[in-house]
This record gives sequence, C-alpha cells and structure tokens, in this order.
Amino acid sequence: MENKLTIKDVKVKNQTVLVRTDYNVPLQDDKVTSDFRIRASLPTINYLREHGAKKIILISHLGRPEGQRVKELSLKPVALKLAELLPGVPVNFVDDVSGPDVEDAVSHLENGGVLLLENLRFYPGEEKNSEDFIREIIDSTAATVFIQDGFAVIHRAHASTSAVAKNLPVYAGLLLEKEISSLEKIMQSPERPLMLMLGGAKVDDKAPLIEAFKDKADSICIGGKIAADGAVQPAENIYIAEDFDEDAEGNKLDCGPVSTNHFVETAKNSKTVIWNGLLGKAEDITFATSSTIFLKTLGESKDITSIILGGDTTGFAEEAMQKDPSLEFTLLSTGGGAALEFLSGNSLPGLEAIENK
Ligand code: 3PG
Repeated sequence: MENKLTIKDVKVKNQTVLVRTDYNVPLQDDKVTSDFRIRASLPTINYLREHGAKKIILISHLGRPEGQRVKELSLKPVALKLAELLPGVPVNFVDDVSGPDVEDAVSHLENGGVLLLENLRFYPGEEKNSEDFIREIIDSTAATVFIQDGFAVIHRAHASTSAVAKNLPVYAGLLLEKEISSLEKIMQSPERPLMLMLGGAKVDDKAPLIEAFKDKADSICIGGKIAADGAVQPAENIYIAEDFDEDAEGNKLDCGPVSTNHFVETAKNSKTVIWNGLLGKAEDITFATSSTIFLKTLGESKDITSIILGGDTTGFAEEAMQKDPSLEFTLLSTGGGAALEFLSGNSLPGLEAIENK
C-alpha cells in the first residue's frame, strides 16, 4: 500500500466526501443479521468526521439484483443499523443514487452528517463500469473527494471501483489500507513457518490459492468438503485430511480427530496461518468440531499471526468471539473473493484505480 494515496493524503475538511463501502451484508426480514462489514466501515467514517468533512455520502451494493430494483435488496436496513452504530450522528438514507431526490437529501444533510444512497446494483451502469453512471452520482452529490473503502469488492471492475477514477482521484480508506497492508505483508515477508489452511466446498475457488502458495507456504492443509471429495492432489507440503466424521448415510461431513490434530499441531508450529473455508459442515453443531478446535487454536495463541478469510469462515469466527471475547485474531478479512484474488497474485481493478503516490 506504500505506493498508493490514502485518506490521510487528502484534505477532507469542509469537503463533501463520497465513500465506496461494501455493505453487502446478510439480511433477514429486512434486518441485518451480521453487522461485521458495517462495523468495519466505522473507522473511515469516524476519521472523516473527526477531520471536519462537511458531508459523508456512502455508496454500496447489496446482493446481485442485476440492474433491477429489488425491494428485498434495498440498503435501507443497513442505514438503520449504521444509525444504531453511530449514536448521536445524523444518518440518513435516500432511495436513489442520483437525481433530484439525492440532491435534495444532500442539501438537507447536517454538517458532519452521513447519507447512505440506494443499492448501486439497482442500476445497470454499476456493473457495466459506466463512467456516465458514476459521474451522475458525483454530480448529484457534489462530491469533491472519493474514498475507496469497499475492500470486499475491489476485485470487480465496476463503476464505483474502476470508472470512478476517470472522474475523481481515488484515495484508499482505512479499512482498505488495513486489509491490503496485512495481506501484502504475508505475500512479501511472512513470519515463518507459514501455513495455509483450506476448507470449504468449491475446489475451483481454492485451486489458484494452492497454486500461488505451493512454493510460498511451508505447509498447506486441506479439510472440508474439498478434502472429503478428494478434490486436491497431495504433494510434498500438502496434507489432506485423512479421517472424517460421517452422518448416518456415510457422508463425510467433518474432519476426524487424526486430521484435526494434524491441523492443530501444524498451526502451533507456525508463525503465520492463513485460513479460508470451514473444515466441516459447521452450521450443524454435530459437524463443527474440527473448525471449532482449529479456531480456538488460532484465537488463543499469542504467537501466531492469524488471517481469516471468506464470509463463512469469518462469520464462524465472529460468532465464536461473541461467545468467548478472549479469542483474538490478527485479521478477520471483510473480503473473501477480493482477498483470495489478491493472495493468488491477480491484479485488483479497484486497487489499480487508486492514485499512486
Ligand atoms: C462479496 O460479498 O464478496 C462482495 O461484496 C462482492 O460481491 P459480489 O461477489 O456479488 O461481486
């Protein structure tokens, strides 16, 4: 991140600042069921308020409505949650991203207030990476500064991540800076031994990561469905779970004690552990044993730099931390796909769009 300009390099005092966040959060009955990504955006919002920004306009996508207005994917519940998390701060919502209603909402926003616009993906221009689409947003909000803080979406070349740079200089927000810097450190100079722990169900998502780390990691361990299905080939530094807990039909739904013990011992002998993908069908408590034991190993260790990636795995860690606040991890990444792309060595359009120093 050293070569990119961040929020700290731009004057925000008295400016109207447009911030791209990633509020792609789970909802149920119009309520946010995990506010992890919303809380992760607070440091940037607080920084802007503390540094005298006049108006803070937030933009995000939610789900994949494919250019259609889908009532269930409105960001309004996110605005309500944000207001809860920012007591005393005016937090408003407008159900559009440009045009007269947005102009009106911006002009009525109090000094230091926060305004969340509607879901960017209700409009085809967002995913088409349209310069005109993002220009309309900038014009309607009269934004003078653009902050990219949507780490989880920077692997997409969309209007709010890529084309925006043709309209305004883009600076990295605090969340983006933290995530990229942590991942960069792992790529460039990880404390060794370095372990990669992979689980989950989709081998296609993990294959590039195995490829990128097979020479870099000291050990790669494979659990989860990808191990149970035999989807990964063993190699010198690749250990694949060898025993499984099964349901009555014989489906292998969790890693067994021998494999779990191997994962734990490897982690304890490592200085850096990257974990992506649950080790069993952990949403069912019967098959959450290996994931729970492995998570505790990382969360209780003071010596391991632990990086947890991916929605399911970070969600699992978040839940465990609520029950046991003594668990600590170095980084729970807000972005599964983005982090995996970055660690696989692929370039990220949203990162490319940020101004170089
Ligand atoms: C995510 O949840 O990974 C990001 O918000 C990106 O969402 P997308 O995969 O729908 O682009």
